[in-house]
Formats: sequence, structure tokens, C-alpha cells
Amino acid sequence: MAEDDNLLTNRQGHPITNNQNIRTVGNRGPATLENYDFIEKISHFDRERVPERVVHARGAGAHGVFEAYGTVGGEPVAKYTRAKLFQEKGKRTPVFVRFSTVVHGNHSPETLRDPRGFAVKFYTEDGNWDLVGNNLKIFFIRDAVKFPDMIHAFKPDPLTNVQDSERFFDFCASSPESFHMVTFVYSPWGIPANYRMMQGSGVNTYRWVNPEGKAVLVKYHWEPKQGIKNLTQKEAGEIQATNFNHATQDLYEAIARGDFPEWELLVQIMSDDEHPELDFDPLDDTKLWPNDRFPWLPVGRMTLNRNPDDYFTEVEQAAFGVGVLVDGLDFSDDKMLQGRTFSYSDTQRHRAGANYLQLPINAPKKRVATNQSGGLMQVKVDRAPGQNPHINYEPSMLGGLVEAKQPGKEHEPFVQGNLVRRSIDRQDNTKQAGETFRNFEEWEKAELIANLVGDLSRCDERIRTRMMQLAAEADEEYGRRLSEGLAHAAKDGSSRKPLGNRKGDQAPGDAVRKGH
Ligand code: HEM
Repeated sequence: MAEDDNLLTNRQGHPITNNQNIRTVGNRGPATLENYDFIEKISHFDRERVPERVVHARGAGAHGVFEAYGTVGGEPVAKYTRAKLFQEKGKRTPVFVRFSTVVHGNHSPETLRDPRGFAVKFYTEDGNWDLVGNNLKIFFIRDAVKFPDMIHAFKPDPLTNVQDSERFFDFCASSPESFHMVTFVYSPWGIPANYRMMQGSGVNTYRWVNPEGKAVLVKYHWEPKQGIKNLTQKEAGEIQATNFNHATQDLYEAIARGDFPEWELLVQIMSDDEHPELDFDPLDDTKLWPNDRFPWLPVGRMTLNRNPDDYFTEVEQAAFGVGVLVDGLDFSDDKMLQGRTFSYSDTQRHRAGANYLQLPINAPKKRVATNQSGGLMQVKVDRAPGQNPHINYEPSMLGGLVEAKQPGKEHEPFVQGNLVRRSIDRQDNTKQAGETFRNFEEWEKAELIANLVGDLSRCDERIRTRMMQLAAEADEEYGRRLSEGLAHAAKDGSSRKPLGNRKGDQAPGDAVRKGH
């Protein structure tokens, strides 16, 4: 380091010679308003926060690399997709990953029962691909119009600002398609031990397009090489009592000591049609694709090997979106996916500004040349080398940008039908929840029932009744154990109403105080 390399300056490059005292009349004040350095410093501080993500506000991130296998199910991957990042064995693509919890704000405990986000940005030679997934493989709802209501019900009460399981279950019992997801979230799968030991999944159905323009339906899954570990409610409570940053800390420390976490990327593939032979719709994100019929086929692996240099610059400002695809990867008709696609870039323009894609963490590693310019915080012009700087429009004969060639035969699905507002036909909201319940180990079943009883026993009777019906519809044992648990809780008086929910409520801690 040169002698004056570490000298403090302001953002104008002026050296700061006194960072301990503002300028005052005499050493006791009053202060003067021409304190440029002080006013710049304090007013920047006043603006240090941007709006947090409306969901998935708490997160941790890391850089890494994805390495392709070049094959899928023993065949060249090009049979199904022409996406360049998958083609050659050993081909490496840099990635940035952000893990998150969903419901609560930045700095909330990482031990809460909640799905976990698993968002991956691949900086491919064709531009960026974002795979915005969760740890669980399904979701609560199958129509995007329900998302704002769902999140309102899951987030804290608008009056008390306290999360309230009665509001959560009111929404879920009234939206029975959520029952399968509730079964996962209330089991130990709702509290992964940390980010390194959890799976990931794209959840929604996408398409792969091959060089002939033919498509298949595809689902993505990440399998951790570290193994999978979930927590009981008690274990989570014990961690939370002393550390509410444990997952961020675990990821950061593992990478810092060179213990790089790895995941294998696997896909499930289905022909691109409605599959009337199945008892579920392949575009329904509340359903698993059974892996005995649609095996998980490995296509590559990802290693996270570098911590961010700065949390805000990289993790907070990272912007992922389901519309961010490269050639060979496409949407499906999954209406949740299509609803999500608008939401991500819309919110990112709000929280990070119109030029959020010029931020280094979001910009592709390849050149961009767009003719888009202006807007708050533009830091450069997206101009091609040799482009006539007067020509920021297309088409032109005077040296402007020109359209790229279509890289392969375009996939052009035929779509016809009446415009309607209607749910899909094959709904069966409980069958797979029953299968999931039966696949749980006994300790997972016991946790699921105890966790449901704990929260449901504080809910209105109509909600409890509906949830018991759904459980019984899913599986006889599931329904019976839940009903017995709730009956027992009612008898021993543990079914109290939630905080602030209705007149005459007592505050938390009353149970302790009553003993005196
Ligand atoms: C984040 C909307 C469903 C995974 C977000 C954000 C919005 C959003 C607005 C904040 C983005 C930001 O500020 O950068 C929606 C809507 C959905 C939906 C409207 C349904 C219609 C899902 C599903 C998944 C998912 C099904 C799982 C596959 C994520 C993840 C993030 C996120 C992982 C955090 C990304 C990050 O780390 O920055 N979502 N979401 N979302 N969503 Fe969704």
C-alpha cells in the first residue's frame, strides 16, 4: 500500500482531516450549516437503506461455479435443450446464489418455520439465466392472483404487527390447494438446519427447447452433497435462543474455511402435453412429479467457493427473476410462473431503480448493447464497440445496433382457446399430501402433528374443523392423529386465542403470571 492509499476522503475525493468534530462557533457550538463534509456524511447515512424485498427479505449469498455433465439420463443433453451452458462435459459457468427466508423482514431469525429461497444466477455466455427456486418442491397456491393475499395472511397482522397462525390457517383452510405445502412446512422440512444442508427446486414447470425447436417439460432440483438436515421445533428454539443468524453464519464460515458446499442439479423431464393419463396436471405447482415415473436426471453440479466482498452491493442488490432465461430454456404455460415473471422485475425497478441491471451483481458477464438509456443512477451507456454514438435507435442505416440471428429453430407452440377465469380440472388437493405424510419417518410425523396442534389449537373452530377434514381426506392416520391432538390440547386448556386477535385477549406471558 502506498503511503497515502488509506487516507480518508469524501465522495468528491477531498481529504478528510477531522472526522471527530463538526465545525462550530467555538468548541461548544452552535454548529454552522456549511459543514459540507458532515452534511454529506450524515445525509448519505440517512439514505443507507433501500426498500427490503417484499418477500424473502432476509438472505445470504455466495459466488461459485456450475460445471456441466454434458449428458442427461445417459444421452447428450442436446437431445432436449440447446442451452449452451449444459452442452459440454466440464463446461464451467460462474454463478451467484442467494438463499433466504420468506415471510419476515431483514435480520429476522433464520430458525423460523418458513420455506427457504434458493435463487441462482448463471452468468452464461448467452447472458444471464436465473433459476429462482425454493428448498421445497411444491408451493401453496397454483394461481398468481392469490399471491398478495397469501403473503398478507402469512406476514404480521396489519393491526398488531405480530404474525398470527390463525390468519395463516384461515387462508390455508380456505385455499385447500395449500394443504400439501402446509404438510411439508409444518414438518421438520419447514426448518432446514442451515442453507448448506437443504435441497432446492425450481418448483414451477419450465420448457427445454432442442436445436430442432422441439420442447419438453422440465422441473429442476438441487441435491446437496452435504446431505439434508432438518430441525425439530425444539432444536430450532434452542438455536434461536442464542443465535438468530445461524444459517448466514454457517454458510459464510464454511466458505471462509475452504469447506465449499456443493449441489448436484437434476431435472425431471416429461413430454410437452397435458398428460391426461396422470391424476394431476404437470403444470400444477402444488404437485410433485413422482420420481419413480419421472426420474431425477443429473445434468451438472454447483460449488460455492467465494464469499461476497460486500453484503449490500452483492446480496442485497442482487435481483433474480423467472423471466431471465437463455436460448434453449423457455417458459411453460404454468400460470403461476407467468404471473411471477412480471412481479420480479417490477419490484426490482421499485427497490433498486430503473437501472438495476447495470449493477455489477446483476449485469451479465458478456457485453450488453441495448439502446436503453437514462433513468436514475445510469452508470454507463450500453453501447457496442464501433457503434455510431448518435444512433440510439433501431433500425438504422447509419451504424446503429442490428438484430441478432435466431440461434436455432424457434419453438412456436400452438395456442387456442376461450379466454376464461377458471381453475385447472385435475385439482385433487389432498392425495399427494397423504402420500407425503406416509413417506415421512415417524419422528417427522410426530413433529408435524405437534406443530400443527400447537398453532391450530389457537385458531377459530371453523378453521380447525376444515384442517382436520383435509388431513382426514389425505390420510386416515393423519386425520386421526391431528383430531386427537387437537382434542387433547382443548382438554388441557392449551388452546388459547392468539395475541390481540379479539376482545378480551390476554397478553403473552399471562400463563406464567397466573401462577402467582
Ligand atoms: C422473491 C413474487 C412465487 C421464490 C420474490 C419477490 C417477489 C416475488 C415480488 C421479491 C423479489 C425482489 O425484491 O428481488 C412472487 C410471486 C409469486 C411467487 C408473485 C407467485 C405468483 C414464488 C415461488 C417460488 C418463489 C413459487 C419458489 C420457486 C422466490 C425466491 C425469492 C423470491 C427464492 C428471493 C429471490 C432473491 O433471493 O432475491 N418473489 N413469488 N417465489 N421468490 Fe417469489
